[in-house]
Amino acid sequence: MTTPLRIRKALACLALAMIGTSGALAADGSGAAIDGKAILEKHCGRCHSIAATGESPLQQAPPLREIYLRYPIEQLEGGFAEGMGSRHRDMPQIQFSAEEVSAILTYLGSITGIDPSKRPRAPVPRETPP
Ligand code: HEC
Repeated sequence: MTTPLRIRKALACLALAMIGTSGALAADGSGAAIDGKAILEKHCGRCHSIAATGESPLQQAPPLREIYLRYPIEQLEGGFAEGMGSRHRDMPQIQFSAEEVSAILTYLGSITGIDPSKRPRAPVPRETPP
């Protein structure tokens, strides 16, 4: 069976669009534009466990897999994008791009076995006056 031409064209466009926006493509040829695990290793791994099991290097820092499972996905997306760390003095303030956030969430999904798309989505909180 051959893929209908229209779909093939759409895929080609998508691939080009991805190359255009993501900048760095993985050198290992895995096809993943950004390696979520590498990002976490670099920025978070010295305090938080970023693996599927095991304690964090810094005891007070919860393993990222637990954080991933604890918070609604929007909050994670928003939090990572805004530089999660800003809440905590000890934590670096880093801002991640949408692509990086999605790579991070995909990685956390892979170690927990729960894909980001399967996480419950909380209703977006409205700004309510106190
Ligand atoms: C220098 C050590 C350090 C680094 C690096 C670090 N963290 Fe943390 N993080 C902590 C500590 C300690 C806590 C717990 C402190 C607290 O709750 O007051 C924490 C808490 C958190 C929490 C809140 C958990 C909760 O239940 O409220 C999130 C989310 C988080 N870290 C994400 C990250 C991410 C994402 C990175 C990498 C971009 C990162 N941290 C890097 C030390 C670190």
